[in-house]
Formats: sequence, C-alpha cells, structure tokens
Amino acid sequence: MFSNLLLLWSFSHELYLTEVKHDASKEQSWNNQNLYSVPLDLDVRLTRLDLSNNFIRQLHTLVLPYLEQLDLSANQLDLISEDAFENLAQLEELNLSRNALNNNTGSNSKALQSITELKSLDISFNSLSDDAVELYLRNKYSLDQLKMTGNVLTRLSHSLFKECKGLRAITIDDNLISVIEEGTFEPLTQLEMLNLAKNNLGQICDFKLRRLKYLNLSRNSVEFFVTREHDQLYNLEILDLSFNQLLYFPIVPKMNRLKFLHLQNNMLGSLNSEATMVSEANYLYNEIFNERTIRKNNLHANWRMMPLIYIDLSYNHFRTFPVETLSLLLSLETLNFGNNCVQNITWNIRNYGDSGEQRQLSFPSLKDLDLRSNGLVNISPLFLNALTKIETLNLQDNSVQPCASLDNVRSFQTTQQLNLITSCVAFGQLRTLKHLNLKDNNIKMLHPNVFQKNSLVSLNLARNTHMVIHEGALEGVQATLESLIISEINITSSDLTLPCMPALTQLKISNNHLDVLPSGLSCSPLKEIDIRNNTFITLNDSLIDALSVHLQVMFISGNNFNCCDSQWLIILKELQINLPDVSDTKCFTLGDSSIVVMEYLKSPLFHCLLHTKAQEVHFGQMLIVVLFLLVMLTVFIICTRKPCCSRSCIV
Ligand SMILES: *[C@@H]1O[C@H](CO)[C@@H](O)[C@H](O)[C@H]1NC(C)=O
Ligand SMILES: *[C@@H]1O[C@H](CO)[C@@H](O)[C@H](O)[C@H]1NC(C)=O
Ligand SMILES: *[C@@H]1O[C@H](CO)[C@@H](O)[C@H](O)[C@H]1NC(C)=O
Ligand SMILES: *[C@@H]1O[C@H](CO)[C@@H](O)[C@H](O)[C@H]1NC(C)=O
Ligand SMILES: *[C@@H]1O[C@H](CO)[C@@H](O)[C@H](O)[C@H]1NC(C)=O
Ligand SMILES: *[C@@H]1O[C@H](CO)[C@@H](O)[C@H](O)[C@H]1NC(C)=O
Ligand SMILES: *[C@@H]1O[C@H](CO)[C@@H](O)[C@H](O)[C@H]1NC(C)=O
Repeated sequence: MFSNLLLLWSFSHELYLTEVKHDASKEQSWNNQNLYSVPLDLDVRLTRLDLSNNFIRQLHTLVLPYLEQLDLSANQLDLISEDAFENLAQLEELNLSRNALNNNTGSNSKALQSITELKSLDISFNSLSDDAVELYLRNKYSLDQLKMTGNVLTRLSHSLFKECKGLRAITIDDNLISVIEEGTFEPLTQLEMLNLAKNNLGQICDFKLRRLKYLNLSRNSVEFFVTREHDQLYNLEILDLSFNQLLYFPIVPKMNRLKFLHLQNNMLGSLNSEATMVSEANYLYNEIFNERTIRKNNLHANWRMMPLIYIDLSYNHFRTFPVETLSLLLSLETLNFGNNCVQNITWNIRNYGDSGEQRQLSFPSLKDLDLRSNGLVNISPLFLNALTKIETLNLQDNSVQPCASLDNVRSFQTTQQLNLITSCVAFGQLRTLKHLNLKDNNIKMLHPNVFQKNSLVSLNLARNTHMVIHEGALEGVQATLESLIISEINITSSDLTLPCMPALTQLKISNNHLDVLPSGLSCSPLKEIDIRNNTFITLNDSLIDALSVHLQVMFISGNNFNCCDSQWLIILKELQINLPDVSDTKCFTLGDSSIVVMEYLKSPLFHCLLHTKAQEVHFGQMLIVVLFLLVMLTVFIICTRKPCCSRSCIV
C-alpha cells in the first residue's frame, strides 16, 4: 500500500523490459553456467545478455553494438579492461552487483566512464569506498537509476553526483554513511526516490529536497528531523523514519503531500507528556534555526497541513495517547499505535486561552486503529466519541473490560464524570465499527447487549480464559457477524449458547472443553469451522449435513472422537469438504486404543463390528452358556440311559 509509488515505477520498468524482449533471438542467458570468462561466439545482434551467477573475474572488450542490457551480477569481477565497454554504444542497463569492484578502481572506472548513455547502474555489494564510487560515477550524464546497496560508503560529498545530475532514483541503503555534505542531493533536480536506510545518520536538520516523493531513512540513528518553515511545496509522499532514535515527532515541511509516515520503533513519547514533547520539539526548532522572536508551535502548525492517511507509531515509548497532535491529521485513516505503554486513554484537552471553552477534537477520517499490546485499562468515552468513522479496532493483548450496556454511560453528563467511568469500555458507542479484536484481555464477563449498537462483521474474543459469555451477549450483532473467534476461553458446551447468526461464515472455537456444537449454528452459512482441541466425541449428523451446503474447510484434530459414532465424518468425506488436519486426527474404538481416523475410514466395519471388546464379551458369555447347557444335556442323557448311576445322580 505504502510503496505504491515504487510499484508504479517497477511496473513501468517491466513494461519497458517486455517491449525490448519480444525478439527472443536477441537475448541470451548464461545465468549460473559455471563460466569463468565471457563466451567468445556471442551473436553481435544481441540486445540483452545475462551472465549473472558465474565465476567471471576479468572482462575484456565486448563487441555488441546493439546490446542494451548487460547483467554481470554475482560474479568475481575485479578487473574490467579500459576499453571493455567501448563498443557497447546502446548499453542502457548495467548490473555489476555482487562483484569485487573495489579492486583496480583505476582501469575499472575508465571502462565505466566510456559508457555515456547508461540509464541504470547497479554496483551494490562491491565493498566500494567513497573514493571508488566517486570515480565510477564520472561521466554518467544520462543516469536515471543508481543502486549502491551494501557497500562501505561513509560520507556523501557534494561532488559525488555532480556528473549524474539526472538521477531519479538512488538507493544507498546498508552502508556506513554518517555525513551528507550540504549540496550533495540538492542539485539533483529530477530526484524522486532516495533510499538511505541502514546507515548511520544521526540527524536531519533542514530537509530541503523538495522534489523527493519517497525518502527512506529507516534503521539509522536519527534523533530529530527538522524542516525550516517556508511556503514552498514539497512533493514528499512517503517518509520512513522507523527504527531510529526519535524523541520528538518530525517537523515536516509546512506545505507537503505526505501520505505515509513510518515512525515505528523509535523513542517517541519518552518525555513525560504530550505537552512536553510538543514544547521540546518547538524549542529544538528554535535552537536550530536561531529563532527567538515568536513562541510558535511549529510542530502543530505544520502537522495541521499534512494530508497524511497512514501513520505507524508502534513500538515507541508513549505513556499517554497524543490526542491533540494526532487529531490534527484530518485525513488520517490508519493509525498503528500498538506496543506502547498507554494504560489509560484520557481526554485531557487544553482549552483555548482563558475562555475555558472546551475544544471539540475528533478523528474525522480514522478507520483503522491498532492499540494492541499497550496494557490498556481505560478508554475515555469522549475519545471513543471522537472516532466517528472507525471500522477496525484492534485491542488485542490489553486489559479492557467491555461495559455492561450503553445506558449506564448516557446518564453521565459532564466530562469529569465521563472520564471517571474508568472501569470499562463502552463499545456500544462505536456505530461504525465493523472489526473488533479483544483477544487476550482477561475479560471477566461479556454482558448482554454489549455490542448492541455496533454492526460488527468480525469479532475476536480468543484467549480470555476466565470470560463468562452471557447468553444475550451477541444480541444486536447476530445479523451482521461474519467471523467469530472464541478460542482458548476454557468454556464447556453448557456455558456457550449462540444465537441464530444468518451471516456467520467463519467460526473458531478451538481449545475449549466443548462436546456439543451449539445448535444455533444451523442458521449459519458457515464456510470455515475450527473445533480443534476440544472434547467432542461425535458431531450431530443432521447439523453437519445442514452445514455441509456451505462448508469448505473444517479443522477437527485434538478431540476424543468415537470411531464407531462417526457418520458425520463419512458425510464430510463424501462431500469432499477440506479437512486439512485429518491426518493428525485420531478416534477411539470402544477399548482404549486410538487410531488415525484415516485408518479407521479405510475399513470401518473391521474396527467397529468385529474387533470391539463389547462383542468379544458377548461372544465369551454366550460360549460359556452354550458349554454349560451342553454339559447339562450330556449329564442328563447319560443319567437317563444308565440306571446304575441313578444313585449318584440323586446324591
Ligand atoms: C542486479 O542483479 C541482482 C541479482 O544479482 C538483482 O537483485 C538486482 O535487482 C539487479 N539490479 C537491478 C537494478 O535490476
Ligand atoms: C582485491 O581486493 C582484495 C581485498 O579487498 C585482495 O585480497 C585482493 O588481492 C585484491 N585483488 C587484486 C587483483 O587486487
Ligand atoms: C525502508 O527500508 C527498509 C529497510 O530496507 C524496508 O524494510 C522498508 O520497507 C522501507 N520502507 C518503505 C516505506 O518502503
Ligand atoms: C489508569 O487507570 C487505572 C484505573 O483507574 C489506575 O489504577 C492506573 O493507575 C491508571 N494508570 C495510569 C498510568 O495513569
Ligand atoms: C480451565 O477450566 C478448568 C475447570 O473447568 C480449570 O481447572 C482450569 O484451571 C482452567 N484453565 C485456565 C487456564 O483458566
Ligand atoms: C492443540 O493442542 C496441542 C497440544 O496441546 C497443541 O500442540 C496444538 O498447538 C493445539 N492446536 C491449536 C490449534 O491450538
Ligand atoms: C442435531 O441437530 C439438529 C438440527 O440442528 C437438532 O434439531 C437436533 O436436536 C440435534 N440433535 C442432538 C442430539 O443434539
């Protein structure tokens, strides 16, 4: 989503490639052929030559006047003759990545300087130093795209790109860059994409690259990012400052087109409160630009203009939710605030001046809010009220308790009172909510009508091990719910009653103590059911039969199925329902032996009619009875036939 720019770019690139490709005779691939040198009898008409993944160490003169693309990546190239490329007048794309071009830079760079029409050059992973790169980039006036990933650059000087000012995309990630001299990138008037991820940059002060659309500074040691305020428009759309050491929000250009801002894994929020963070950031701004005149909130002034739709603030150090700063982002649709340490989201808004007038803040575009793993206990109803467009709310791994019902909240009038209701979260307020994840919150009780005012489509209640689900809990959402997860709750069948849910297509009830499928399910067009790790002995045949109309996948392993009561399984097999874990599923014969159900299905009669112990017992008993009768009969006959014995018979 956030790299749509890149996607577009590579897409157009690919189109271009396929155009070139159409005549197969003009391209040749020697990829991975154990070559130690360039083959001699190459067709002079070649436009595309792939020699990658070989052992070529030296490159001598190539005479391929039509060649447009040459791939020499992943060889052992360390010596290129000065005239090697002289007869490649059409060459536009050259891939030299993964070689040893740090050696013989003198002759190698002369060779490279002779290709003047080059548009794309890849010299990644060559252990290149600052000086070597500077030599290799001479005379590249038509260069459009440059990749230098994984070299050992430490300092970018203002003379580095002076002969390739047409560059549109530069990738220099995974180097050791700690200094960028002023004037290095500024003269590159076409530059739209700059990737400096995985370097050692410590601060960006006064960001001036107005043409840039994509800037990646991820995994550096950036402590602050500051732009001097002026009225020129910046094209920046994607800024990645993740995995750095930011203490403050970046001060972005005042006029910008920023849509995607990646700030995850920083130290934002370490300062006590939102107000401190904002004032510290402004103090820093004034220090850097020596502005003593007005005490102005530069951070907020510029954030207010930002058309941001996505911000990632996960894995930072926030202890309070920065309500004011984030509510300035009127276009914000997706906010990832997971893995911070906000226990309570309160609504402490500073009022305007002295009037005491309450400011009305809201998040008018926010659709997707991720608050997982924060240790959240309380969320102010005023905050929930401000989420007027919310569709997806992820509260996994917190400690929120859903409120009993909406009416309790209504009766409180003032802000103070509302802020005081701290014991539970009133989900009923969120009319637009569609997807709610409450997994792993240690919820005690799911009251009747908790979600009554929502129109939930998916609900995850998994791993709330002590949760009691009230019979009417899903009242109000049963018509809209499509996916329900109640795994790992430790419930038994008598604790679980599900209403008729005519939209439900996915149900996960794994890892409980269930032995009967809730009969309400016959209403649901279920496509996927997960009943793993329960105590089912059998499943209701007629229910399975009814469900099988829509059923596509069912997970069944980890139960106590009785082999001899498995009509349901035969139904599922006959209808070819996908049972992905059937080979791990066992069933028990009436003795203690268990077998894999697949074995059982091969010869059900053998396992259930002849070999069960019950039958063995009957057979034995009958044998004894028959033998006994036989003996009695024999004795009787003998006695009646031989009178001499009659005495003993009588005795
Ligand atoms: C150069 O080749 C490598 C594979 O060795 C590939 O990963 C890289 O994307 C290629 N560079 C360009 C600019 O296509
Ligand atoms: C190339 O450089 C490596 C070390 O980077 C060195 O061991 C090797 O001898 C050099 N080869 C040449 C031909 O200079
Ligand atoms: C920035 O670079 C990092 C490291 O290479 C990468 O993981 C990340 O996806 C890039 N960010 C964007 C927005 O493309
Ligand atoms: C959050 O609220 C709970 C309950 O009111 C309280 O016990 C706790 O101290 C609060 N946490 C913070 C960090 O203010
Ligand atoms: C699950 O319930 C059983 C009793 O039904 C109880 O003994 C067990 O401790 C519970 N497990 C958890 C993780 O709460
Ligand atoms: C079922 O239980 C087994 C054993 O306790 C466990 O290894 C497996 O991951 C569980 N399956 C699921 C889906 O949780
Ligand atoms: C099996 O399911 C059907 C349809 O849902 C229901 O009418 C019947 O009572 C169930 N039988 C048992 C034994 O639960």
